[in-house]
Amino acid sequence: MPKDTENGPSTSRAVVTGCGSFAPLKLLTNDDLAKMVDTSDEWITTRTGIKVRHITTESETTAFLATEAGKRALEYAGVDAKELDLIIVATITPEMPFPSTACFVQEALGAKNAWVFDLAAACSGFVYALHIVQQFMENGRVNKALVIGAETLTKITNWQDRSSCILFGDGAGAVVLERRTDGSRGIMYSTLGADGEYWEALNCQAHGSRHPAPRPLEDPEKVFMQIKGREVYQQAVRRIVDSVTDCLNRCNLTLDDVKMVVSHQMNARIIESAAKRLGLPDEKVFVNISQYGNTSAASVPIAFDECVRTGRIQKGDVFIFVAFGAGVTWGANVIEF
Ligand SMILES: CC(C)(COP(=O)(O)OP(=O)(O)OC[C@H]1O[C@@H](n2cnc3c(N)ncnc32)[C@H](O)[C@@H]1OP(=O)(O)O)[C@@H](O)C(=O)NCCC(=O)NCCS
Repeated sequence: MPKDTENGPSTSRAVVTGCGSFAPLKLLTNDDLAKMVDTSDEWITTRTGIKVRHITTESETTAFLATEAGKRALEYAGVDAKELDLIIVATITPEMPFPSTACFVQEALGAKNAWVFDLAAACSGFVYALHIVQQFMENGRVNKALVIGAETLTKITNWQDRSSCILFGDGAGAVVLERRTDGSRGIMYSTLGADGEYWEALNCQAHGSRHPAPRPLEDPEKVFMQIKGREVYQQAVRRIVDSVTDCLNRCNLTLDDVKMVVSHQMNARIIESAAKRLGLPDEKVFVNISQYGNTSAASVPIAFDECVRTGRIQKGDVFIFVAFGAGVTWGANVIEF
């Protein structure tokens, strides 16, 4: 069973007051990939729903993407960077092993009053980070926070492995959260889970303590991301369905009360399959993977930003974030905007 925490009796709530996103300008289409590996636009589109992904140039880094998304979210919320108490950057492709990507973002934004850290829960990182902010705002220790999901997965992509190189893209998305005591519900509930037994389903092994950087790797491919797509696929559908069901039950909501489910964009077929099992109508499931590929921790906030900017989610709407990723990890948040 996933671990979970309900909103306590506190009237202090974590409310989303701004969002923003940023994707690098350079594009990589399915036809471009077909020139690099034995694949086709038809195969990729049918199996994943992806048409194009944004990819970083050598000089564009995770902190750069994160800072750009953060600036946009702060502007939307009308919050000055100096007002922030906390910045969390959810990422598995950090600027460097240390210091944290969040330190670079803090410096670039001039958020001198914030304490900051990175959170590594792969594609579930953004959803995990929101749960942490929820706790700090409900107990009154944080007033204003910036949560960013930012990834440069194409920098650890094996461009010769057709089963993985077609899946990923780069980007960043961010939200500003503010502690409110005015009756706003904000983050109503979060459910999180993990199962380390399945760590091999999705991993990148180089440059940690098991395979330290200067030593030659017995398998050079360990510098790249490795995935067992079919295993991930099956687990992802189950965990997404269970997480959303848990959210609905614990908040005493039905699908009629929910304006939109904003899922991690890992594969259009995974999202469709989960939506079908949940009985979610098409208009309540947001899918933008065709334009971004899988951007891991960045995908939920990028999708949310698009939902807000196109009017699909408006102030007062209740929506659900849900994610599944390496670890394996999963989680969901129910939020009133
Ligand atoms: C990767 C994924 C798209 C593969 O789709 P699938 O339907 O499961 O396909 P399979 O892995 O069973 O492969 C089917 C065939 O297509 C081939 N194939 C794999 N990638 C291919 C590509 N890019 N182009 C053409 N053929 C490809 C395989 O070699 C296999 O051939 P075979 O039957 O001759 O062995 C899908 O499993 C997926 O999206 N999984 C989750 C991805 C993931 O881990 N995301 C990150 C975590 S959030």
